[in-house]
Parts: sequence; C-alpha cells; structure tokens
Amino acid sequence: MGYKTIAWRKSMRVTLDYNNMTSAVLGEKGISPKQLSAYRSRAAKAWQYVQKNRGKDELYMGWTELPYNQNEIVKDIIETAKNIRSKFQNFVVLGIGGSALGPTMAFNALCHLHYNDLPRNKRRGPKFFVEDNVDPVRMHDLLDVINPAKTCFNVISKSGATSETMAQYLIILDQLKKAGVDVQNNVIFTTDANKGNLKKISDEYGGIKSYVLPDGVGGRFSELCPVGLLPAAVCGIDVKALLAGAEYMDRLCRTNRSMYKNPALMCATLQVIAMEQGKNLHVMMPYSDNLKYLSDWYCQLWAESLGKNVTLDGEPCNVGQTPVKALGVTDQHSQVQLYTEGPFDKVVTFLSLKKYAQTMPIPHGCENIPDVAFLGGHTMEELIQAENAATAFALTKAGRMNYTLWIPELNAFTLGQLLFLFELQTAYAGAMLNVNTFNQPGVEEGKRLRLLCLEKRATKKRKKNSTLTPQTIPLISFD
Ligand code: PA5
Repeated sequence: MGYKTIAWRKSMRVTLDYNNMTSAVLGEKGISPKQLSAYRSRAAKAWQYVQKNRGKDELYMGWTELPYNQNEIVKDIIETAKNIRSKFQNFVVLGIGGSALGPTMAFNALCHLHYNDLPRNKRRGPKFFVEDNVDPVRMHDLLDVINPAKTCFNVISKSGATSETMAQYLIILDQLKKAGVDVQNNVIFTTDANKGNLKKISDEYGGIKSYVLPDGVGGRFSELCPVGLLPAAVCGIDVKALLAGAEYMDRLCRTNRSMYKNPALMCATLQVIAMEQGKNLHVMMPYSDNLKYLSDWYCQLWAESLGKNVTLDGEPCNVGQTPVKALGVTDQHSQVQLYTEGPFDKVVTFLSLKKYAQTMPIPHGCENIPDVAFLGGHTMEELIQAENAATAFALTKAGRMNYTLWIPELNAFTLGQLLFLFELQTAYAGAMLNVNTFNQPGVEEGKRLRLLCLEKRATKKRKKNSTLTPQTIPLISFD
C-alpha cells in the first residue's frame, strides 16, 4: 500500500461537495452565504474547544491521539493477529454498541462481501463473526457453525459489566470448559487497563491476553484503538493504513480553523444549521454495499453523542438529530419516495465512490426489449454511479438538502479518513450545541434498569416506584 507517498495520499483524499445544501442551488430552501457566515464564529469556537481539549482523558477526548500514539500496540496487534490467523478457524467478537459496531463496519467495508463463504485459501484469516445481541437463537445458531475449541473469542467491554457481553462470555466459558480447552488459549480481552470485571477475571486466571481500551476513549470513539484494530488485523486489514488515513484527515482538520477549509467542521456546521431549521433527521446513504454497516456505526456516533437533555452549563435542553440509515441503490426503491416528497425534515449525506473495486460489465441481450437492451455494454459501476447522481439530482430538484462525501476508492486509508472525519464532525457539532458529546447517561440508565429487571426484587421495586410501572392496558380479544 503506497499510503506513505504524498502523491498517492493526495489522490486518495476524501472530499466534500456541499453545493446541494446552499441557496445557490436550492434557492430559498438552501443555506445562503450570509446564513453560513453567521455561524462562522460559533464554528471557530467549536474548533477551538476541540483543539484545546485534544487528548484529555478526563473529557473522554483521548481518541484524538489514537492515530499518533499506538506504535507499540499496533506491532503487538499485528503479531497476535498473525498467530490467530494460523491457529484458529473462527474469530468471534463478543461485544455490543461501541464494542461491536466498529469491528462489523471495518470488516464489511474492507473484506470480501461473502468472506465467510470463501474457501480458506481465499480468505485472509479465520471466519469472522460479531455477536452483539443476546437473542438466544443467534447464540444457539452461532454454536451450530463454530467449534469453540477452534475459535478465538475477543471479548470487548470497557466496563466488563455489560450484561449482554458478559452473558455471552459465560456461555462461551462453559463451552470451552466442556471442550476441555484452557480459557487463556482461546480468549482475548479488550478492556479497561485497571478497572472492570474482565481485568478481575484475567487476574483470577493468572493473566489472559488483554488489550487496553484507553481511559479517555469512549465506546463509540474506539474503532481506532485495539477494539477495532485487533479484529481488523485478524481479517488481514492494513491497520497501519487505517491509522494513516485517520491521521491524514486529522492533520487537515486540526490545522484549519476555517470551516471553508475543514471538511469535518463544514459538515458539522451544515448539520447544526439544518437542525436549527427543524431538520431533525440525518440520513446516511452510502452507495456501496461495503459501506452499509458504516451507517450503523455512524448512527451510534451521532445519536449517542448529540442526543442530550442538558447543556454544558447545566441548562435543560433537548437536542440531537435522529440518524437514519439508507443504502443506495436499494433504498431508492423504498425510502427515497419519502425523502423526495415527504416533510422537509431531513438532510441526506451521500457516500459516493469514484471507483469501485469491481466494474462488472453488463452483457448485451434482450435486444428486442429496448427497456432492457439499453443496459448492455454498460457496467454496473456506471449504473450505480448514474443512480447515485440521479437521486442527488431528484432530491435537489425537490428542494431537499443533501451533500456528498466523495471517496476516490474504498481502502483502509480512505476508510480511516472517513472515520476520523465523522468523529471530528461529531465533536465539533457537540461543541456547537454546547452539550457533552462524550457521555451517555441514557445508555447507562438503560443498563441499570436492565439489571433491576433481572433481579427478583425488581417486581417489588416496580410497584413502589410508579415511574417504572408500565401502564396496564386490558387486552382486547377478538374470539
Ligand atoms: O458508546 C458506548 O459507550 C456504548 O455503546 C458502549 O460501547 C456499550 O454500552 C458497551 O459498553 P462496554 O464496553 O462497557 O461493554
């Protein structure tokens, strides 16, 4: 990978086209130069806030330094991944939320779309699974297709107290015991350095191979630390290129306080303006099956970071923008009708590839049916790109805000750029909205209530505490 040459890096730069957000294109439905300019100082302050607090663990901003401070860890990860590739038939991530969405996204983005179905010699590593639910059917069915003794399990949990992940761990532990396998051989933890249950469990076993989820890195900002890097390296993804892409985007944004030169700051500003004009939905629409799960990863990042009910000054608020995932062209045949003609409450972000990994020529045929025959001689790449352009045009024609992030081609370097762009965009937007981007009290509350419900005494407590008692609605029977 030539990510070290300046010319190559330049040719791989992700770019932003926000014309379709502006009044120059959308008329009165768009953002005028004057409106944009009115947000300049707020945007610059947000940039300053992020700059000033970079790397501060106490503010959960340690993620900004991940492209720079992991040389030793990356070496270890690459070595460990090599061993895993040679030793195991399967690699299973057990985790949820920030501990699962990143590994799923990178695997899907950079590996063959039918990776697990390829013969071993055509795969770059063991079969790959991410288990991020406690649906019993899913766990049962996983155990039907893997031999636990020949599987490496990467348990990812910062707290080690997330009941979903720990329930999965207990099941796997039991399976390994039944198979007569030492846990230390088949399990790797990714967790907090000093606290948490996985640390305790590791100590009890006299040490289980563990990677550190750094203090200042929250779950949804963790893809570029061992949470994401180990699974990616196991699948043969060039993790150094991923980090180099992140660094490339970071350098571009950290050195440009002006939103006109800083794509993450411009995206954040456009979204905040749109939000404040009542655009409460943000549709992430990649035109690439490889990027389908990037939307899931992004949805968590945007939703958990910005959906807050109190400002940094302690004032009550209810802010945030609901992220929606869509896939081009698939969702042209389901959601785009709504986007084009429904309420003016959305901004659509297109992720568009200039070049796909395959072109796939469409052969000539059905010559007597003009509606079909015209396709012959084109390629699927041309078709998907034409459909992407047509959807953007249709939305624009209907006065709908949309912008495009252009990706020269999908590789580890460009994916790293995208991830960092979205992380910075989220941090800038949070600062502009004056909320704590890096906490998740709503998620923590959900975890606490789940535990309550599991305990037997929860029933009693629910009766005492009316806010926890669901309303009883009589069932209507149609017998
Ligand atoms: O973004 C977050 O912080 C959450 O989605 C967490 O990643 C998720 O709840 C899992 O937590 P933990 O890593 O403690 O198991």
